[in-house]
Amino acid sequence: MNAFTTQVKDYVARVELNLPGEPVNKITRGVRDEIDGLLSELASDAAVRAIVLISTKPDSFIAGADIDEFVALRSREEAHELVRKGQALVNRLAQLGKPVVAAIHGACLGGGLEVALACTYRVATDHPKTRIGLPEVQLGIIPAAGGCQRLPRLIGVRNALHVILAGRQLAARRAFRMGVVDELVHPAILDQVAWEVAARLADGWRPKRRRRGVAGLALDRNPLGRRVVYAGARKQVLKRTGGHYPAPLAALKAVRHGIRYGVEAGMDMEAALFAELAVGDVSRRLVQIFFASTALKKDPGVEGEAPPPKPVRNLGVVGAGFMGSSIGAVAVLQAGVDVRLRDTDLPSVARGLKAARKILASRVKRRRITKHQYLRLERLLSGGTGWEGFGRVDLAIEAVFEDLDVKHEVMRALDRHVPDDCVIASNTSTIPIERIAEVVGQPNRVLGMHFFSPVERMPLLEVIVTDQTASWATVTAAAFGREMGKTVIVVRDCPGFWVNRILAPYLNEAGRLLEEGVTVDAIDKTMTKYGFPVGPITLLDEIGLDVAQKASEVLYEAFGERMRPMAGLARMTEDRRLGRKSRRGFYRYEQGERRGVDEAVYEIIEAEIASHVPRGDIGRRLTYSMLNEAARAVDEGVVRSPRDGDIGAVFGIGFPAFRGGPLRYLDDVGAAQAVETLEQLAEEYGERFAPCPRLQRMAAGAERFYPSA
Ligand code: COA
Repeated sequence: MNAFTTQVKDYVARVELNLPGEPVNKITRGVRDEIDGLLSELASDAAVRAIVLISTKPDSFIAGADIDEFVALRSREEAHELVRKGQALVNRLAQLGKPVVAAIHGACLGGGLEVALACTYRVATDHPKTRIGLPEVQLGIIPAAGGCQRLPRLIGVRNALHVILAGRQLAARRAFRMGVVDELVHPAILDQVAWEVAARLADGWRPKRRRRGVAGLALDRNPLGRRVVYAGARKQVLKRTGGHYPAPLAALKAVRHGIRYGVEAGMDMEAALFAELAVGDVSRRLVQIFFASTALKKDPGVEGEAPPPKPVRNLGVVGAGFMGSSIGAVAVLQAGVDVRLRDTDLPSVARGLKAARKILASRVKRRRITKHQYLRLERLLSGGTGWEGFGRVDLAIEAVFEDLDVKHEVMRALDRHVPDDCVIASNTSTIPIERIAEVVGQPNRVLGMHFFSPVERMPLLEVIVTDQTASWATVTAAAFGREMGKTVIVVRDCPGFWVNRILAPYLNEAGRLLEEGVTVDAIDKTMTKYGFPVGPITLLDEIGLDVAQKASEVLYEAFGERMRPMAGLARMTEDRRLGRKSRRGFYRYEQGERRGVDEAVYEIIEAEIASHVPRGDIGRRLTYSMLNEAARAVDEGVVRSPRDGDIGAVFGIGFPAFRGGPLRYLDDVGAAQAVETLEQLAEEYGERFAPCPRLQRMAAGAERFYPSA
C-alpha cells in the first residue's frame, strides 16, 4: 500500500495522504505501518527541516481511526494493543524533533484530529466540508490517541470537555475561535499557506498561542476551579445520557487523570478505558447505528436498478403554517434551493415567510451562518397567494390542514399548475397517501414526505410510497430529503406509516396506565430510565394532544381494538389542554418553562385513585406494546428492512440508541422470550398484547431480524 507520497523542496517535506481505494482517509493498520517508516526517514533526513501533512482526497483530511478495525476487536487485550499503536503513532509525530504543519480540509475527526493535535501548527480551510472534532463518544468509545490530553492543554479544560463529551463536530470557524486550529484559509491557498508556515517553522519561528475564549480560563487554572468544571460537566453528561452511555464519563475521567498526573498517565488511562468500552455492548450498538445511517445515505430508496434522482432546484410549498414555513427554511438553509411558499391569504404568507426567516436568523445568532449568507439565503424565499412560480417547481410539498377535502383541493390545483415531471408530496402524518393521490391525473408522481416537528432539529424524514408511486419520484424525494440534511427511510403507505404506527400503541398504553391510576411521574420516569430522552406523557404534551388524538383515531379506525385510544385524551382536548403549545397539558407551563405535573388532570381523565399495576409492569407494558407493533409492521413490509425500522425508531421517536432500536432489541431479548412476555401481558391485561404472528413464527424457528453477529 502506498498511502503517502513525499516531496521535499527547500527543506520542507510535503507529505500527501491518499488512502488507495477508500472514499475517506482513515488510520488503518497499513497507514500506521507506513507512517512509522516514513517518520523515521523524515527524522533522519538532513534535507528536511519541517513537514506539511496534507490530504489529496476530496473533503477528507483524516476521518478517524478505521471503524471497521475496531468493530472486529474480540477482546480487551486486542483493543488495548490497537489503541497503544495509535498512541505510539501520535507520540512519534509529536516528538519528531521537526515541526509538522497539518493542512486540513474536509473531515478531521477522531484519530484525524488527534494526529493534527500532535502537529506543531494547524491550518484549516474555511469550508463547510471541513469538520473538526472528536466524535468518539457517539460511537461509545473515547478519544484514546492523546485527544483527551492534548485538546485540554491546547484550548483549556472547559472548552475541551465541551467538544469531547458531546462528540461535537465543529465547523472550521468555530474550531478557529476555540483555538483548535491556528489559521483559517480559503481552500485555494491551503497548500501554499501551509508550506509558508512550514518554511518559517524550519527557520526557527514558533507560534505564540494566546488562548482565545478567555472565559473559563480562571476556572481552568486552579484545582478548585477545575473541580467546579468537572462537576458541572459530569452533571450535564448525566442529564443528557441518563447514565446509559458510559463513554462521556470515561472521557471525563481520562481528561481529569491526565491533568492531574500528566500526559503519560493520562494516555495509560485512555488506553485502559478505551479497551473496556470498545468491546462493550453500548459501543457495538452505536457503531451499528453509524453504519446503518451511513448505508442509508447511499440507499436510493427503491429496490433493483434505481433511476437517477431529478435535481430539485425549485421547491413549492403549499401551506405557510408552522410545518410549511419550517420545511421551506430548512430547504433554503441546507439545500440552497429556491422556495415558493403559498397560502390562501397574504397575512398567512407573511407570517410563514417571517417564521422561515426567523429560523435562518437563529443560525446567524448561533454563528452557524454569516450575516452575508443569511442575506443570500433569505432572497431564495418568496411567497404569495397565487400559483405563480409553481410552473417551474421540481418538487411541491403540501403542508395544509389535515383534512382530506382540503388536501384534495390542493392536489387538484397542484396537478394543474406544476410541470408534468414535478414530484408532488404530502406532509400528512395521518391520511393515507393513496387517498390523497386519488384526484391527481398521474398518481405515480405522488408520495408522502413526513417531516417531524421541529423540522430544523428532527433528523428523520419518512418518504411514503404507494403501490403506484414511480421509482423516479421516490428517488427524487429521498435524494432531496438527504440534501435537506435528513436521514431518509422509505416507508410503505399504511395508517401511521412507520413511526406513528409503532408510537401509537405505546402512547395509548401510557394513557391506559394513567387511567389505571399510575402517576404521570411514574410513567415518564420509567421510560427515561429505560433510555428514552423523554417519557410518553411528556411526549404527548410536546406533540400536542389534539394532534395525538387525531392520529390515534385514524389508527383505531384502521386497526381496531388493539389501537383503542385512551378515553381521557378527548376529555383533555375538550378542556382545551393541547400540551405545551397551549401552555396546558399533563404538565403546567409558565413563561415557556415546564413547571410540573398538573394534578387536575387525574380528575379530568377520571383516573383510578390508586394503581394496582406492579412497578415492573409499567415499563413492560409500554415497551412491549411498541415492540409487538414494530414486529407486526415489519411483517407487513411497512419498512424495507429492519435497519430502516430501527433507524426510524431511534431518529424519529428517540428509541434508546444504545439498545439499537426495537428490532435489534427484540433480537437481543430473543423472539421466544418476547413471545412469552407478551403472552403473560395478554393474560393479565388484555388481547392487545397477543404476540403478533411474526414473533410467533420467529420464536418457533429461532429466527432473528438481523443475522447473528
Ligand atoms: N472508519 C471507517 N470507515 C469510515 C470512517 C472511519 N472512521 N469514516 C467514514 N468511513 C466510511 C463510511 O463508512 C463510508 O463507507 P462506505 O462508502 O463503504 O459505505 C465512507 O467512508 C464514506 O462515508 P460517508 O459517511 O458516506 O461520507 P460523508 O462524506 O457523508 O461523511 C464523514 C464523511 C467522515 C463526515 C462521516 O463518514 C463520519 O462522520 N465518519 C465517522 C467519523 C468518526 O466517527 N471518526 C472517529 C472514529 S473513531
